[in-house]
Amino acid sequence: MAKRRVKIKKENPLAGQINFYKAMMVLGLIIAGTFIYYFLDSAPHLTAHPFHVPTDTAVQCLECHMGQTKNVPIMPHRAMDGCTYCHTPSENKT
Ligand code: HEC
Ligand code: HEC
Repeated sequence: MAKRRVKIKKENPLAGQINFYKAMMVLGLIIAGTFIYYFLDSAPHLTAHPFHVPTDTAVQCLECHMGQTKNVPIMPHRAMDGCTYCHTPSENKT
């Protein structure tokens, strides 16, 4: 007599909860990604000016942006090594 096994797919009683947490995890990652994206994008672009050379070093940028000159906006944060990592050159070249 052949052994016959009828496979009964048992529904995991926790499936509903697991799916709920999976959906919440996806939602959380989307929200976190949005915050990170806008945080990194918050720095104003490097406006197109002859004195704005994207390849300049931080020292060269700070020759103007330490508040020595009127009409030049003072850098409102601590000095960092690379300025153009955040202040990307503006897209519209004028
Ligand atoms: C010759 C002086 C000079 C140098 C060098 C210089 N800047 Fe500026 N920067 C200015 C002046 C003047 C303005 C204001 C004019 C304007 O906003 O268009 C300005 C504006 C800015 C702004 C504000 C832009 C805006 O639209 O509000 C940022 C950010 C900035 N500079 C970053 C930098 C970085 C990064 C460097 C180095 C790559 C740099 N600057 C080098 C003179 C300078
Ligand atoms: C980690 C990212 C980051 C780096 C690196 C960075 N900045 Fe900024 N910078 C910002 C953000 C964000 C703001 C806007 C702050 C605010 O509006 O309060 C800002 C604002 C400024 C402003 C004022 C612009 C205005 O219109 O008033 C100047 C000038 C400036 N940065 C210069 C520099 C210089 C020069 C360097 C390199 C030494 C530099 N930044 C490096 C993120 C950065």
